[in-house]
Amino acid sequence: MALDSYKHTPPLNLERKFPENMTSAMSLLYKAKRGEKGNVVGKRYAVPAFNVTTFQSINAAFTAFEMLGSSGLLAFSNSALKHFGRGEAIFGLEIVSDYIAKMASRTKIQVATHLDHGDYITEKGRKVVQAAISCLSSVMADNSTDHVNQTHTDLADNIGLTREVVNIAHPLGVSVEGELGVLAGEEDEDTHSEISTYTNPQELERFLRETGVLMLAPTIGTMHGPNKGKPGSKVKLQIDLAHTLLKIANSIDERICFVIHGASTLYQEVTSYALSSLRKFESAEASVKKWEEFVGTDWEQIVDIVQAGFCKINTDTENRQTFLAKLLGTVIKDPAKIDIRFYDISCTEGLTQSYLRKLIMAGNYGVWYEPKIDVEDFRFDLAKPLQELTSAV
Ligand code: G3H
Ligand code: 13P
Ligand code: ZN
Repeated sequence: MALDSYKHTPPLNLERKFPENMTSAMSLLYKAKRGEKGNVVGKRYAVPAFNVTTFQSINAAFTAFEMLGSSGLLAFSNSALKHFGRGEAIFGLEIVSDYIAKMASRTKIQVATHLDHGDYITEKGRKVVQAAISCLSSVMADNSTDHVNQTHTDLADNIGLTREVVNIAHPLGVSVEGELGVLAGEEDEDTHSEISTYTNPQELERFLRETGVLMLAPTIGTMHGPNKGKPGSKVKLQIDLAHTLLKIANSIDERICFVIHGASTLYQEVTSYALSSLRKFESAEASVKKWEEFVGTDWEQIVDIVQAGFCKINTDTENRQTFLAKLLGTVIKDPAKIDIRFYDISCTEGLTQSYLRKLIMAGNYGVWYEPKIDVEDFRFDLAKPLQELTSAV
């Protein structure tokens, strides 16, 4: 494909009408990149993309978005979709899109749904991406790694496959996230990347011009999962590279939004709460050690690149950790409550706290209306019920 083919890439159809209160991920991200809240333009903020895997996690995310008036971005991995769809990802897509449309119809925030790490390389993956284009409002076309053969895909193949997705998705108003470079760690229960490469700035312009994507995940040193470095040491991101890449993208189209995968930071409050419960179990030494060795991405470095223009921050692991910590604490505290709802409500509240925390850290509140709680006063404490941690404004 020739370099000047960019002008022929299908533009994102901004006229597309999604179900009530739903929009594309791109429209939420571009608002964040411009620092737009209501009609006011201020400091940039980020949009956390929460990977949800259960109805409770969707409910918890809606509660957090509504308390803060935040952008609502919910992401689904292939394995999460299989979980919702009793083993079938495409059935899962139908279920979650109906569920979220119903939830969104009762809200006053705007919500986007996103396929995380969609694969357009394998036949099975292509079918899921195509179904996601008709059920969701955004998809990731992650074609930078061939997970079957554990190889880095050729630039031309990555471009060609990503462009195929853009050709179908953009006319329908569905935004597309591409990936350039290879991220380390686990991306999905079925896919694990042993290899990792940073994004090559010399490939970026061609990738952006020829695919037409408006969302891009470059690889700058973050990784998926709970062990992002050695205990006690900070993850070192390629900040200079991040700035170089942003400059190139902005000169092509200032609407292009960058995405940080592996953005879970891990909360000290969660680790301490989990450890205090775990130490009450007999023979839990191995699990205690695992918790002690978890290392998240360094938030200070993320904040800096958010201010430079990265606007989607993908978080899954830290919310799983919060859920697990809260489950351990709830079971230790009351192990004989014969009511599923008791444990369910407790863990869902824990997740809500985790989402509130990241949305506040990302500056993502007051986007559609003033927050219903005092964000300065929010305390993150899994030992307490949610209403004790927030004061209404
Ligand atoms: O980046 C990917 C997510 O962490 C997906 O994890 O496939 O276990 O849902 P999952
Ligand atoms: P974490 O493992 O850091 O939560 O990253 C999740 C992610 O990138 C999902 O795409
Ligand atoms: Zn990811």
